[in-house]
Amino acid sequence: CGIVGAVGSELDLVSIFEGLRRLEYRGYDSAGIAVIHDGELLTARASVARESMDVLASWLAERPFRKGEVMLGHTRWPTHGAPTLANTHPHLDCHGDIAVVHNGIIENFRELRAALIERGHRFGSDTDSEVVAHLMEEALGEGLLPARALEHVFVQLRGHMALVVALRFEPRLLLGIRRTSPLLAAVGEGQAFFASDAPAFLSLAEQFYEVPEDVAVVLGNPIAGDQGLSVGDLEPLTVEWSSQDAVLDGFASYYEMELHQSAEALYDTVSALMDGNRAPVIDQLRIDAYELARVRKVVIIGCGTSYHAGLVGRYLVEHLARVPVEVDVASEYRYRDPILDADTLVIGISQSGESLETITALRDCQVNGARTIAITNVIGSQLSRVADGVLYTRAGPEISVASTKTHLAQIGALAMFAIYLGEIKGTLYPDEAKRRRQELAEMAPLIRTTVEREGIWRGVVEQYLLLDRFFFIGRNLLYPVAMEGALKMKELSYIAAEAYPAGELKHGPIAMLDEQAVVVALLGDDRLHDKMLSNLEEVRARGAKLIVVAPDGDQSADDLADAVLRVPPCLALHAPLLMVLPLQVLAGWMAKVRGLDLDKPRNLAKTVTVE
Ligand code: G6P
Repeated sequence: CGIVGAVGSELDLVSIFEGLRRLEYRGYDSAGIAVIHDGELLTARASVARESMDVLASWLAERPFRKGEVMLGHTRWPTHGAPTLANTHPHLDCHGDIAVVHNGIIENFRELRAALIERGHRFGSDTDSEVVAHLMEEALGEGLLPARALEHVFVQLRGHMALVVALRFEPRLLLGIRRTSPLLAAVGEGQAFFASDAPAFLSLAEQFYEVPEDVAVVLGNPIAGDQGLSVGDLEPLTVEWSSQDAVLDGFASYYEMELHQSAEALYDTVSALMDGNRAPVIDQLRIDAYELARVRKVVIIGCGTSYHAGLVGRYLVEHLARVPVEVDVASEYRYRDPILDADTLVIGISQSGESLETITALRDCQVNGARTIAITNVIGSQLSRVADGVLYTRAGPEISVASTKTHLAQIGALAMFAIYLGEIKGTLYPDEAKRRRQELAEMAPLIRTTVEREGIWRGVVEQYLLLDRFFFIGRNLLYPVAMEGALKMKELSYIAAEAYPAGELKHGPIAMLDEQAVVVALLGDDRLHDKMLSNLEEVRARGAKLIVVAPDGDQSADDLADAVLRVPPCLALHAPLLMVLPLQVLAGWMAKVRGLDLDKPRNLAKTVTVE
């Protein structure tokens, strides 16, 4: 979920509402706002999937006032309670004086709720969040001052979360508190803000601050004698993006725009990790060469698309640095009772740097003695702060829920790391390492020309766009690419799409193949090429439609395939950077043909801050 709060004597409600809109990538099943204006606390809620913001905008436009003293906003990705109006935030206490927006999960809410009901509180929703409003009501009723009351409530809540609380009778202050889940404070001219993420207030805030854990932060005019921190006590945060970075540039969707920014994303990431002489620049790695030389095992964890980049990374690190690599989804790795020691290096990959599962798994690894690195796109994000060192991807803001350009940037960062580790381990000579860095940077123009082929690809696959059973197959480095292709298809067009290592197809999944199935096969120019061709024969023999992605000049599958999508030839090690592009484009068309929203697929959120 995304949360915002603002306080000031003359808040421009419309511009703060626009800030909330910019957090819609965190969830868009329902949305709500609360406004304190002239001593009254008003709320508006909407639960029209993906259109709630427009409903709220009309509500605001119909108000006789445009200004207020406090505003809270919430955009929801449901965890507890269906996305109904009653479950939409903000939630209020029994008297309608205390408004709360919440991101995260309160694990012990059932006990708290039962006890509150016993004490006479009435609940209006099924959410875990509502208990906070009622507990605040009691704490304030006992005479605690606001910040003290919030801290008193917060220690009773189990789980990871961020909360922003407004009080009708204290219209000059706003309270925020968090544990693991993200929350930033910011100040602008005559106003102060809380937000889950910086894009909400890039255009209004002059300075951002990190909200520390478990301490109430008070914005506005704190009450004398009340505990809690003011912005002056917080650590300032550097935010590199500008409000212009996220503007749709003539494209119909962010998904399409961001896919077209892939070449820059890779280039900017890779070039920031080397100097003009192609020597490594690893200032933020914060793990010295001596320690890296000791590393005997690398573990890579992540979720979704980031996990798939990690799977590609495995091949890169093992091939270039000859260090064994394990890759797992963060939510699984954490509970596997993993074997770790000081010679294990754990790399957590997360575009947002906020996926709770990746953060908590990485923390556990540290506790068990491992050294850790974050690969993230967001400077100062939670993951970057938890890890011992960071490699930033420099893809710029990614708005579309389904990742495109950051996936390529993550692979670029992993490749740069693999080369560096290889140099330290002595598996790559310095000159070879330099050459490899150069080759990686040179993938950028190739990515650009590959994306420009989308018109040609469309002509080739148009007739398959209405089919709805897809299998993606690849081998070696191209197997994770097949997984990413299937994920993109599921995320954007909601059709059944599965990925298999091509060799595994015959061990079960082949039973599902018939004339209605489409197999998308990635034919790499590598030592497994001929084995892959045999797998394509197996598919053909079962009557399934066959779409092959192959490099220019490789006509070996032309007779077998119904359609061939061509990409330029490149080193086998870099093929994932090109082969994923037609799959991302294909998933986009599938969604468009079905009239679906490319940027906001149903049931998903870009940043998931719950386990
Ligand atoms: C969500 C998104 C996915 C994304 C995953 C990991 O589930 O819907 O598209 O890949 O989170 O996000 P992260 O920010 O950690 O890379």
